Amino acid sequence: MHRVGVVGATGAVGRELLGVLEKREFPCEAPLLFGSKGGQTVESGKWGPLDVSPFSVEGVSGLDVVFLAASGDFAKEYADKIAAVVKTCVVDNSSALRLRDDVPLVVPEVNGHLCKGAKLIANPNCTTAIAIMALAPIFAAFGLRKVVVSTYQAASGAGAAGMRELRDGITPALQNIKDDGCFEGASTAEVFAHPLPFNVVPHIDKFQANGYTKEEMKVTWETKKILGFDPKGDDGPKVSCTAVRIPTLRAHSEAITVETEKPCPAAACLDVLSDAPGLTVKDDPGDNLYPMPLTATGAFDVEVGRVRQNIVFGENGLDLFVCGDQLLRGAALNAVLIAEKALS
Ligand code: HSE
Repeated sequence: MHRVGVVGATGAVGRELLGVLEKREFPCEAPLLFGSKGGQTVESGKWGPLDVSPFSVEGVSGLDVVFLAASGDFAKEYADKIAAVVKTCVVDNSSALRLRDDVPLVVPEVNGHLCKGAKLIANPNCTTAIAIMALAPIFAAFGLRKVVVSTYQAASGAGAAGMRELRDGITPALQNIKDDGCFEGASTAEVFAHPLPFNVVPHIDKFQANGYTKEEMKVTWETKKILGFDPKGDDGPKVSCTAVRIPTLRAHSEAITVETEKPCPAAACLDVLSDAPGLTVKDDPGDNLYPMPLTATGAFDVEVGRVRQNIVFGENGLDLFVCGDQLLRGAALNAVLIAEKALS
């Protein structure tokens, strides 16, 4: 039985990690949990209540795998130190290490071979991890020249506090809606830039000098790195993103337009996506079947559908829609799959 640790165990991703370890019957003893304060308890189905200890490097020394579900600042300070004392690897969920040359950025179904022998492995940004499940098989089959992504991101991307702000803001916002659909009175926002209930906010993370947000540039850089290109170089597909927060709870949706190198008939693309691991094709307009947060929430697979020939790019262009649980594929599930590969 392996011995694993979870740092940041009381956050949304940390809690989700325990559930995924359990559901996948990951062969480990009761995980050791660490949090900034310690002194708390986290409920788990399989192992009962688990105590949360304050983090120390000595506390994780000798474990097989340590999952980091903490901040980027924490990872910058401790990831290398932890990697020096674990037996197999550290899987980091923050953005701190993702673009480091010596740290593989892994979605196991796409580039899982990079896990073997790596002491530090980065988990991609959720938005990237969900889109790449469809983009990687399309890239392998038809090549990719251009990728344009428009996201519809759930509150959970901002952690448990984001989900709480959405849930607790809905009733007060309802009371502010007049019969004509206009709002009266102000709603408040602390986690998000603006109140999220009944709203759509085209702003996730900090604005950059080029007018994109950091969330959007993560999709550009990380997609290129996972597909094997220099994240900030000129080679490989050009990737652009508009990232938008919407009032859903934990599944991110993404409309994706691609220009491919080879002709890519929509039917052939659907065949490729049907054969790809980690994807469920939901594409039957006659039956109103397509990906949605309502059905993707809680599922391990990313849903893909609305696959059609793109009018602008013609036979070399496709439009598609994906939807995935960002706490699972975008974080906890991907991290556990990485650990499974590293230990195999
Ligand atoms: N940065 C993402 C979001 C979280 O805010 O939705 C995914 O890691």
